[in-house]
Amino acid sequence: MSEPYLPPRKGSIKNPLRIAVLISGSGSGLLALLNHQQSNQSPHITKLIISDNINAGGLRYGEDFGIPAVAISLPDSVSKIEQRIMHENLIHDKLMNYDIELVVLSGYMRILTSTFVSKWKGRLINIHPSLLPKYPGAHAHRDALADGANMTGCTVHLVDEGVDTGEIIAQEEVEILDGDTIEELQERVKKIEHQLYPKVLDTFCSKGV
Ligand code: GAR
Repeated sequence: MSEPYLPPRKGSIKNPLRIAVLISGSGSGLLALLNHQQSNQSPHITKLIISDNINAGGLRYGEDFGIPAVAISLPDSVSKIEQRIMHENLIHDKLMNYDIELVVLSGYMRILTSTFVSKWKGRLINIHPSLLPKYPGAHAHRDALADGANMTGCTVHLVDEGVDTGEIIAQEEVEILDGDTIEELQERVKKIEHQLYPKVLDTFCSKGV
């Protein structure tokens, strides 16, 4: 059954929402967000960085910005579903320990179970590198190029129980150029993401309830 979205409280500059950023890789989006928070008065503040990947390059930004950054790897388990649930329970416990109010997925490449989503729905936000509902999943740029599309972009959306199906908050277009490789397209989309996500978070966090 699908749960309703429960938004976070209203954040303010004086009392910003406590954010955890979840990453899996290089963390360029995380870096853009941290720079934004550092140089603007913002209704959100990053209090915790979590990666599912111990080798994620983005973990180093924790040290650079004085923010706790932890890798939580998949635990050993007999079944895949049990492993996912155990992993998410470890993440959830960490989020609770740090009084996190909003979970920001920024290049987090695992699909979250509906058990985890139900605990955070409305306070769980993602950026995806396509104009959803086009090209959901882990290979958005590959799929856009294979489709012969001449336009793609990025989408900020709330996370629901499906894969990249949650309520869309904002989108921005990026043109696909003749001969674009996956890497070239990814870099151009990331540049737009780095502006869009912090801006959308400012608006989202200052709305609240
Ligand atoms: C970003 O382009 C983000 O939209 C994408 O991964 C990249 C992370 O880059 N996310 C997904 O594909 C989620 N399905 P980064 O690690 O350099 O921030």
